[in-house]
Amino acid sequence: MSLDFRYRRLAYVALNVTDIARSDSFYRDMLGLQAAGASAAGEHFYRCSQHHHDLILHQGPLAGLRRVAWEMESTEDLAKLRSHLVRLGIGVHVMDADYCASMGLDEAFQITEPHTGATFEYCAHMADAATPYTPTVTHIVRLGHVVLGASDYETTEQFFTDALNYRISDRIDGAVTFMRCFPNPLHHSFGLSKSDSNRLHHVNFMVTDIDDIGRALHRARKREVPVVFGPGRHPPSESIFLYFLDPDGNTLEYSFGMEEFPELEPRAPRRLPLALESIDYWGATPQAEFGKGGAIEARAE
Ligand SMILES: [Fe+2]
Repeated sequence: MSLDFRYRRLAYVALNVTDIARSDSFYRDMLGLQAAGASAAGEHFYRCSQHHHDLILHQGPLAGLRRVAWEMESTEDLAKLRSHLVRLGIGVHVMDADYCASMGLDEAFQITEPHTGATFEYCAHMADAATPYTPTVTHIVRLGHVVLGASDYETTEQFFTDALNYRISDRIDGAVTFMRCFPNPLHHSFGLSKSDSNRLHHVNFMVTDIDDIGRALHRARKREVPVVFGPGRHPPSESIFLYFLDPDGNTLEYSFGMEEFPELEPRAPRRLPLALESIDYWGATPQAEFGKGGAIEARAE
């Protein structure tokens, strides 16, 4: 089956938190996001770029993933993806005009990803914010990627490549798959981690300078924020990383630097051995809480 729809980027991630006032402070003061208002549905918008929003916080009974949104290159790409999903028998829920206006989107639809149960949203264009983004405690260049833990890891990976047009950049054998939303050049804007249950593994923000990683380490220590992995450097993507927990135990990551792929004639994906050396050149060991935090909210039908 030829897949001719093209993605622009990972648009935003919406998280559930159990105490939104506590998380508002954390995401602003520790992570360095800029508050950007709230929707009538009680979703709090945050920015790290010129876009309408990059992250949403929503108060819910279970902390974790509410949805993941992807921006396509054009309205034609959105329409092609929608027809393709309908042909596959996947339920497509077109979002109404009020919803799209509140999200800064031109048009959007949602699906339930059939293997993880996560809600995926697709749009053709997200508006820019009216005011510039002003960095505070760190210099974030973009929301980088989201990784899900998948209990049916091989089947889920196959769905993302064969049905959703993601391309594999690298694998850690039988455990982790790093994927790019074609033809976005970033080594991964999405990943899957083999897991005993479907869950949110982590959300990444890319920073502009290695100093942002070092400063974050000390900022976390001063605030008694648990650092659960790093600092270190990932062999698959060459990114320097630091993972820490939000107040609900969701794993967040800052990373600096990432390999980029050409659209035409990219290198072949590598298969790295399942070993700690494949996830860190520097010898760090992940803590037990790494990637264990977040539940996946089922979409309300
Ligand atoms: Fe990551």
